[in-house]
Amino acid sequence: MALADKGVPEAEFAPAGAFSPQEREAVYRTIYARRDVRDEFLPEPLPDSTLERILQAAHHAPSVGLSQPWNFILIRDPAMKAAVHDVFTRCNGEAAQMFADERSASYRGLKLEGILKAPLNICVTCDRARGGPVVLGRTHQRDTDLYSTVCAIQNLWLAARAEGIGVGWVSIFEQEDLRPLLGIPPEIVIVAYLCVGFVDQLFTRPELEARQWAERLPLEPLIYEERWGDRR
Ligand SMILES: Cc1cc2nc3c(=O)[nH]c(=O)nc-3n(C[C@H](O)[C@H](O)[C@H](O)COP(=O)(O)O)c2cc1C
Repeated sequence: MALADKGVPEAEFAPAGAFSPQEREAVYRTIYARRDVRDEFLPEPLPDSTLERILQAAHHAPSVGLSQPWNFILIRDPAMKAAVHDVFTRCNGEAAQMFADERSASYRGLKLEGILKAPLNICVTCDRARGGPVVLGRTHQRDTDLYSTVCAIQNLWLAARAEGIGVGWVSIFEQEDLRPLLGIPPEIVIVAYLCVGFVDQLFTRPELEARQWAERLPLEPLIYEERWGDRR
């Protein structure tokens, strides 16, 4: 169906052609050059205008029923960061014990967060009640609000990369330990805790790959045709 037949004013439409080669290149470059940053952050604070742009990028993510279930808690207070870091340190010790011998030693050698070093931490949450009791598109898949929040995080991550700002996602926490520190009500889900700041160098491939912890899977076996398991 043509947009013109949808019964909305023509001013609502824009041409949908491909971007110019340079614009396209910039999009793919952003995707491929984005990295998770651990502790390589520079101390300079983000200019307000840059922070605003990356938050706006996050806020323009797709969301189920346009419910926009996210909130962003900006954390700069060293005392708060130290408290969050304490929670991480305890959970990270538990995590190390979950891996078998050699792997555990190698895990302990990895740096997995930049909470104290990053000038800004951002806790991204999902309000599962946003949009009311029945949300278009979420009627049969309750978790689509969480997926939407992750879309916002990816937008933020990519926009930050384009701005020369590194982002590190720290997930080695118990939600219930973070909640009281940040005053997050019980009905709100903590989706991500991000460390954010300028960086002057990034790995060209995932650090976990460069350190032989894991490697990127070949894409081809992950693609099926028509039915699960039918390789093309
Ligand atoms: C949901 C999620 C949680 C993550 N949690 C952590 C974490 O706690 N600590 C860490 O060092 N990296 C974490 N990462 C980063 C991944 O390790 C990283 O994305 C992956 O190794 C690929 O590297 P790249 O992002 O640099 O391409 C997380 C990434 C995602 C998407």
